[in-house]
Amino acid sequence: MAAGDGFYLGGVVDPASGERTGEEVRYDPADLTTHGVIVGMTGSGKTGLGIIFLEEALRAGIPALILDPKGDMTNLSLTFPDLTPEEFRPWVDEAAAARDGKTPAEAAADAAGAWSRGLESWGLGKGDLAALRAAAEVTIYTPGSSAGVPLDALGSLAAPAEFSADRIEDYRDEIEGLVTGLLGLAGIDADPLASREHILLANLLERAWAEGSAPTLEDLIVRVQQPPLRKLGVFELDTFFPEKDRLELAMRLNNLVASPSFAAWRSGPPLDIPSLLWTAEGKPRAAVVYLAHLSDAERQFAVTLALSRLVTWMRSQSGSSSLRALVYMDEVFGFVPPTEMPPAKKPILTLLKQARAFGVGLLLATQNPMDLDYKAMSNAGTWCIGRLQTERDKARILEALQPAAGNVDLAELDARISHLGKRQFLLHQTRAKQPALFTTRWAMSYLRGPLVLDEISRLTAADPRRAAARSRPAPQAPALGEHETALAPQAAAGVPVYYLHPGAPWAEQVGARRGGTRLAVALAARAHLTYKDATAGVHHVEEWEAVFHPLGRQFDPAAGKAVDYDARDFLEAAPSGATYLLPEIDLSHKAFFTTATRALKDHLARARTLEVPRNRALKLYGRVGESAAEFAARCDAAAQAAADTEAAKIRDRFEGRLDTLRRQIEEARFKVDEAALDEDTRRQEEMASGVGTLLGVLLGGRRSTRSLSTAASKRSMTRKAQQRRTGAEARLAGKLEDLEELEDDLAEELAEIDAAWAAKAAEIETARFTASKSRITVDEVAVVWLPVG
Ligand SMILES: Nc1ncnc2c1ncn2[C@@H]1O[C@H](COP(=O)(O)OP(=O)(O)OP(=O)(O)O)[C@@H](O)[C@H]1O
Ligand SMILES: [Mg+2]
Repeated sequence: MAAGDGFYLGGVVDPASGERTGEEVRYDPADLTTHGVIVGMTGSGKTGLGIIFLEEALRAGIPALILDPKGDMTNLSLTFPDLTPEEFRPWVDEAAAARDGKTPAEAAADAAGAWSRGLESWGLGKGDLAALRAAAEVTIYTPGSSAGVPLDALGSLAAPAEFSADRIEDYRDEIEGLVTGLLGLAGIDADPLASREHILLANLLERAWAEGSAPTLEDLIVRVQQPPLRKLGVFELDTFFPEKDRLELAMRLNNLVASPSFAAWRSGPPLDIPSLLWTAEGKPRAAVVYLAHLSDAERQFAVTLALSRLVTWMRSQSGSSSLRALVYMDEVFGFVPPTEMPPAKKPILTLLKQARAFGVGLLLATQNPMDLDYKAMSNAGTWCIGRLQTERDKARILEALQPAAGNVDLAELDARISHLGKRQFLLHQTRAKQPALFTTRWAMSYLRGPLVLDEISRLTAADPRRAAARSRPAPQAPALGEHETALAPQAAAGVPVYYLHPGAPWAEQVGARRGGTRLAVALAARAHLTYKDATAGVHHVEEWEAVFHPLGRQFDPAAGKAVDYDARDFLEAAPSGATYLLPEIDLSHKAFFTTATRALKDHLARARTLEVPRNRALKLYGRVGESAAEFAARCDAAAQAAADTEAAKIRDRFEGRLDTLRRQIEEARFKVDEAALDEDTRRQEEMASGVGTLLGVLLGGRRSTRSLSTAASKRSMTRKAQQRRTGAEARLAGKLEDLEELEDDLAEELAEIDAAWAAKAAEIETARFTASKSRITVDEVAVVWLPVG
């Protein structure tokens, strides 16, 4: 059988007769990049099938990471090249044999016979066993225990080897996984997005990684108490997570460190994906991570850490369409539940979504379909469906298959699932039209069942990785250099001694390396200078602070770096594990500090001038820390306020005149209306008295002269009314003009005021003052130990 034909999983079964047709079931490993699920009730043969997938992968040169919650996957180590009873004998389950009324030797002979015949019936023999054993090494890791090869999950919380600070986003998932797992171990149930414990630890780790440091859990505990950060998001750290509560978190983590069983989590080879998957020569490995001895929280931690590390490793790889590595999990119950979000679920979901592009296949087995997040699973490209316990389980599977079912007849599938025998599976692939019914081939590995720690200890006795873990020396304190000391050099009496707080915002400015433990001496000085402004009759007081580092034999008062330090930047106690670079000066000599203080005073008197921007017209001075633009803006605002006050007075003055005018306009308008109304009435009366009367009289003579004269007088009255209206209209127009003029005057005056104040605002000059020596006080000269490495 050539490996190139695909994975040899078993033989096709005729659904009608239930017999093998003789046709082999071959599986294209590339299909595993879309991931697979093996599901079936207990005893249905899932683990057997998983072992077969793994044997085939290893034979094809594909490495595997195997998460083993129940302990059956250790069986991958039980391959016996000659299939003799002697080879089986040490590994038979003596208790089970006794129950069957057999001696261990008889059980071994039976097993050897079963395996020889079983393999033979599938066309497999010793040659295949030898090929499998030669293809890959199986290592059984026992995190948290030294029975097998322990895994150093927590000895160092260092970033993975391929870490690069400018791709920090790619590592956030891993940091999140690590922190979630760690908090789980410490018994703290923390939501990665909402819990402050999680947010703080993740920030601390991210920061440490970005700085290139490899913190231990102890370092992390120290940093929880004294975080090298002041803010988390927009909040002051102490508001977000008060010191008292941080102490409690530190205690919880400390209890973890102090527990005796914890030591095992910190020995052995590091959890480094490439070395789990390949030997130094590039030969594939099978890394079985045994979890059966762990508590739920510990399992979550181990799985989360392994898988999130796999995710980051994977992302640093180039894309691949063929299967590059296989991840198998023998029972996912509790890791991918439908709604909850246990720590390990996130990296599993990430793998389901992203691993395909990198050629990493995930194969998950479970007997509890009801406990699967079937929505996440429904994207899996391969389903091996075995015998199911309940109708509900079946319904759940059909539900999961529905979106990807395509042409598949679900009713038919339903019927077929109901008739599956032991070790029979329906192979459903999104790419194939019809699911194939098959029975698994005989496993090459001796399916002895779960091994316990003692047995693993026996099994791995010869494993060089375990031996290496055992003989590894305990970590030692770092060796001291020639110019270093572990004891802080004494400072003269009365001189304050501080240690830089890792969160001091100006640490880099003075050449410090946050979080380092190799300390170098520095001086911090604070002085107050008083400047007199004789012209204005005011005093300006300036606070001046600087840190002097490095310190030469001769104190140079001009070499200080001006930084704005405050009490929060200093700690009273040295960081743990600190060493001190021997200073060139003798700190215990009081004289050094008095000389330095005097030199500083002289220097400040000579060199310090205070330059203050000043606006005489507005009587304003620049403030400490105010930029030129800010001062100009402040002057402008003051000028505008002054202009507004002045304008208000002008407006008051104009207001009376405006009022009078408005009233007059009202009156004039009223007069115009009145006149117009009068004119109208007159005109109507004139009509009523008979337009064209004159003509009628002349022609008919029926009207009297009297009526004639009445008509004439009506007409003249109309004319008068007309004149009155025109007059009123003219007066109104005049008044409106007056109003316009007045408004123009007001606008002009306001503009003048504004221009005058704007000009005043712009009159900024620089006032220079020097402080006389008698007006300089040096308040403090302190020793500060700065971490430099
Ligand atoms: N491919 C195989 N070759 C030889 N024997 C097998 C194979 N598959 C299963 N068996 C036998 O059937 C038994 C039960 O199968 P298996 O352990 O794979 O079931 P399972 O579905 O994993 O059950 P559980 O859910 O309890 O873990 C095994 O102990 C083994 O004896
Ligand atoms: Mg099983």
